[in-house]
Amino acid sequence: MTYGDWALLQDRRGRTYLFRLQEGATFNYHRGSIRHEAIVQAGAGGKIATPQGELFTIHRPSLEDYVLHMPREATPTYPKDAATICFLLDLAPGMRVLEAGSGSGGLTLYLARAVGPTGQVWSYEARPRHLERAKRNLSGFEDWGNVTWFEADLAQAELPPNTFDGVALDLMEPWKVLHSITPALKMDRFLACYLPNLTQVIALLEHLKAQNLPYLLERTLEVQHREWDLRPPIAHPKFQQVGHTAFLVQLRRIGES
Ligand SMILES: C[S@@+](CC[C@H](N)C(=O)[O-])C[C@H]1O[C@@H](n2cnc3c(N)ncnc32)[C@H](O)[C@@H]1O
Repeated sequence: MTYGDWALLQDRRGRTYLFRLQEGATFNYHRGSIRHEAIVQAGAGGKIATPQGELFTIHRPSLEDYVLHMPREATPTYPKDAATICFLLDLAPGMRVLEAGSGSGGLTLYLARAVGPTGQVWSYEARPRHLERAKRNLSGFEDWGNVTWFEADLAQAELPPNTFDGVALDLMEPWKVLHSITPALKMDRFLACYLPNLTQVIALLEHLKAQNLPYLLERTLEVQHREWDLRPPIAHPKFQQVGHTAFLVQLRRIGES
């Protein structure tokens, strides 16, 4: 670990603190401070304590840590859901994927990692402030130069036909952009929509039916992680869990009927 790197400190209760290591800077905690220099010396995986005896483990943040702590304009796709979107889109290195909206760049980070340096992410965002935030969040963590940003409404976009191996939509009214994305999604590939409300899922499915759009509904799901508190003899589900985040709808592009 060196100055300029992200550091994640975790206390005994599992609470985490993310910051960049800076020469001459100090991490201030309510029970004492720690010099960044001491964190650099102890390194990732090491332990460190405040003069008052408050112990921390030192880590490099995972992508999940980063997305949960990074500054936000719009609410990022929750990491468990972002990882599942990559799975539902069946992404692999070298693929080309389209997303909207960029928001805070949370899902962009997951998509960019899934397709890797040889792949491409095209990310559309209608609101300039959100786009700036997404760009900064991506470049602040890992940037392989595989994301192309568009400050535009995806509903108005003219996309190259038969181009994308997957499309991810995290926006309120995905049915409003289907006319522009459908010809751009390769045949037999997947579209994933991230929708907090069941009423949105129903509106999407009604739109697909009413417009006779060429998609198979593969599945609608929620991703639930039920964490446990395991410190024998204590062994039970944690009392505080991540509650509802959103529904995921997986659609597969098929031929016109
Ligand atoms: C919930 S946020 C997306 C969060 C993002 N997935 C993340 O992980 O940070 C939804 C975003 O979609 C944008 N948006 C909504 N409709 C859009 C459209 N038709 N075209 C482009 N962006 C759109 C909004 O401005 C907002 O920033």
